[in-house]
Amino acid sequence: MFHTRLTEAATLVQAHLDAVMAPMGDLTVVQAMRYASAGGKRLRAFLVLETARLHGIAPEQAIWPAAAVEALHAYSLVHDDLPCMDDDDLRRGLPTVHIQWDSATAVLAGDALQSLAFELLARSETSPDAAIRADLVLSMARAVGAQGMVRGQALDIAAETAATPLTLDQITALQAGKTGALIEWSACAGPRLAGADPAPLGAYARALGLAFQIADDILDVTGDEQTAGKRLQKDAGAGKATFVSLLGLEGARARATELTEQACAALDPYGEQGDCLRQAARFVISRHS
Ligand code: IPE
Ligand code: IPE
Ligand code: MG
Ligand code: MG
Ligand code: MG
Repeated sequence: MFHTRLTEAATLVQAHLDAVMAPMGDLTVVQAMRYASAGGKRLRAFLVLETARLHGIAPEQAIWPAAAVEALHAYSLVHDDLPCMDDDDLRRGLPTVHIQWDSATAVLAGDALQSLAFELLARSETSPDAAIRADLVLSMARAVGAQGMVRGQALDIAAETAATPLTLDQITALQAGKTGALIEWSACAGPRLAGADPAPLGAYARALGLAFQIADDILDVTGDEQTAGKRLQKDAGAGKATFVSLLGLEGARARATELTEQACAALDPYGEQGDCLRQAARFVISRHS
């Protein structure tokens, strides 16, 4: 069930991004936006569509915030790969944007993908209710800004040159920002679209987001570059603060498994209806890309 729905989410979101960017013309920065927002697992879009489904919101509506979150995520990857950040030359199996073009194009394509995300959320197709659109925009701004993803990214970069290793609590806070906040926003988008309480899905997504980043850190050590489509074995050399650097591979695996169980338990209020999201949580820690 989960794999079918993840594939459906990927197909829908690609078609939607193609459609919204079609009128933008062919300037290099727009070509780079299309290039950067193509591919990927589309887990965040899946979370939007699936939690919307749980709350009786049709995919034709939920695809707007689903495409928004993937545009935002694509921006974060383009900037994350820049020479001044993680300095990576491979993403989703292709040269990174600054390698394919140049750093100025990568910065600007990232900027415009972020703007596009907010534009899609603010459009009337996202919800006929202006208060719901404002709630989505506000929660996204908080999730990705100086108290959320950007904060996590700043802590991640600062940790590379920190005099002492980060504690477990510090690494947890760093990861909750850099990866967790956008995943949490995605899982809460369904209830927000329906004007329902996002709290149970928030608890699910906080555990899921942490497990997701731990799996990413494990992948950096044990994964295959061809399958992952990005450079691996880089975190330790770069001095990144990760669960693997602190707990070792086995400790990190054990923590990810615990978090997956926590994520599944948080879905109790949804009963069997939550099964697809439970499968998503198990996928997140067993993935190879
Ligand atoms: C990679 O995210 C960056 C992190 C936040 C760890 P994903 O693993 O979701 O990347 P794509 O979208 O599938 O390429
Ligand atoms: C990226 O984390 C997080 C964001 C883009 C916000 P990583 O730096 O660990 O992701 P990868 O390993 O490059 O995909
Ligand atoms: Mg990074
Ligand atoms: Mg990186
Ligand atoms: Mg990583």
